[in-house]
Amino acid sequence: MSDEGGDKPLKVAVLGCGSVGSQVVRLLTEQSDDLAARVGAPVELAGVAVRRLDAQREVEVPAGLLTTDAAGLAGREDVDIVVEVIGGIEPARSLILTALEGGASVVTANKALLAEDGPTLFEAAAKAGRDLDYEAAVAGAIPILRPLRESLAGDRVTRVLGIVNGTTNYILDKMDSQGAGYDETLAEAQELGYAEADPTADVEGFDAAAKCAILASLAFHSRVTAADVHREGIADVTAADVQSAKDMGCVVKLLSIAELRTDPDGTEAVSVRVHPAMIPRSHPLASVRGAFNAVFVETDAAGQLMFYGPGAGGSPTASAVMGDLVTVARNRLSETRGAGESAYADRAVLPMGETRTRYHVAIDVDDRAGVLAAVAQAFARHDVSIQTVRQEGRDEEAQLVVVSHAASDAALAATVEELRTMDTVREVTSVMRVEGGEE
Ligand code: HSE
Repeated sequence: MSDEGGDKPLKVAVLGCGSVGSQVVRLLTEQSDDLAARVGAPVELAGVAVRRLDAQREVEVPAGLLTTDAAGLAGREDVDIVVEVIGGIEPARSLILTALEGGASVVTANKALLAEDGPTLFEAAAKAGRDLDYEAAVAGAIPILRPLRESLAGDRVTRVLGIVNGTTNYILDKMDSQGAGYDETLAEAQELGYAEADPTADVEGFDAAAKCAILASLAFHSRVTAADVHREGIADVTAADVQSAKDMGCVVKLLSIAELRTDPDGTEAVSVRVHPAMIPRSHPLASVRGAFNAVFVETDAAGQLMFYGPGAGGSPTASAVMGDLVTVARNRLSETRGAGESAYADRAVLPMGETRTRYHVAIDVDDRAGVLAAVAQAFARHDVSIQTVRQEGRDEEAQLVVVSHAASDAALAATVEELRTMDTVREVTSVMRVEGGEE
C-alpha cells in the first residue's frame, strides 16, 4: 500500500472498461488537476483490467496500464482504490474481496452483487477498515444512497418510492403518450437503443428489484436482498390498462416501493416490491418521462423529497462513481472511513399478502339487474372496501371499474379469484395497484 497524504499520489485501479469504466478513466485523466485539489493529493490511474487487450474502447488507455489480470491488479500492493465496474456476481465479488483484503478502498456500481450478497462485502470492508461505496449502483447519476445514508441519518424514513429503471419508464411513457401496445413499444425501444436485445432484466423487474433491496436496506437499517422483493414486470401491461389509468387521472409506472409498516402493537416490518402501478398525474413521479429515473422519499421530519435525473448511461453513472472515488480518497488521506453497513434495526420483511395498497379492477360483466350488487358483495366478503365504481354499458355487456380503499394483497387476490368464478362476470380484464394517493 502506498504511503498516504501529502503529494504522494493515490493509485486507482479500474476493473472493467465498458461504457462506465471508460468514462471513469476519461474523467480521471481529464480532471486530474481538479481531483488533486479536491482530494488533497494527486489521484493516479494505476491500471485498467479488461477482458481483451485489443478491444475497441471509448477511451484511449496507455497500453502499459492495460491488463487482463484483474485479480492481480485488484490485489496489487501499491493500489489504494479499486473501482469495480465489471458487473455481475463473479468474478466481481472475488475481486472486491481481494481488493479489500489487500487494504484497498472499493467503489462499485454493482447493484446485482450488492442486492444478492452485500453483507459479505460490508463485513470484509469493516474487517479491513476500508470504505466500500456504491452510489452508482442505484439510479445512475442521481445522488440517493448518500442522502439516505448520511443526510437523512437523523430522520426516520417511512417510504421510498422509485422509478429506478429507465428502459421500462421509457416503454410505459411511450404507451401513455402514443396509446400503443406493449409489444410494439418494446420493439421500437429496442430499435432506438433504449431497450436491450434481451430486455428480461429490465422488463421483468429484476434490475429494479435489486435497486429496491439496496434502497430498503439503507432506508430501514436492515438487511434486504433482491430475493426478498416481490417482483412483477411490465410485460402484461396493456394499452387498455394505460387508457383506464388515464380515465381516472393516473399514469402507469413501474414502481420500486420500500415501505415501513407499523402494526397496532408497534412492531415494524418492511414491505418491498416492484410492480406496475397507477399513480395520480398530480404526483411528482408522474412527471418523470422517457428513460429518466426519480426517487421519492417520505420521512417523518423532512416530509417529502424527490431526487431526479439520468439513471443510466456511461457518463452519468461515471459521475456517481467519481463522487465516491473522491470521498474514499479523502478518507484515506485523513486515515478514516465513512459509515459502514447499518443493519441494527433488523426489521423483518412483510409477506406480500400482508402488504396493503389500493387496487384498480376492471371487470366485464353481464349488463342486468343485480350484477353490480353481486360484484360489490364479493369485494365486501373479503373485507375490501370500495372507493369508487365506474360503469360503462356496451349492449348486453358492461365494464365495471372498481377502485378499492387500501386492502391487503391477499384479500384482493381472493376477491379476484371469486369474481372469476361468478356466472355474471365474463372476464376480469385488469388488476392493477394504485399508489401515491389517499388511502
Ligand atoms: N438497464 C437499466 C435501466 C440501467 O434501464 O435503467 C442499469 O441499471
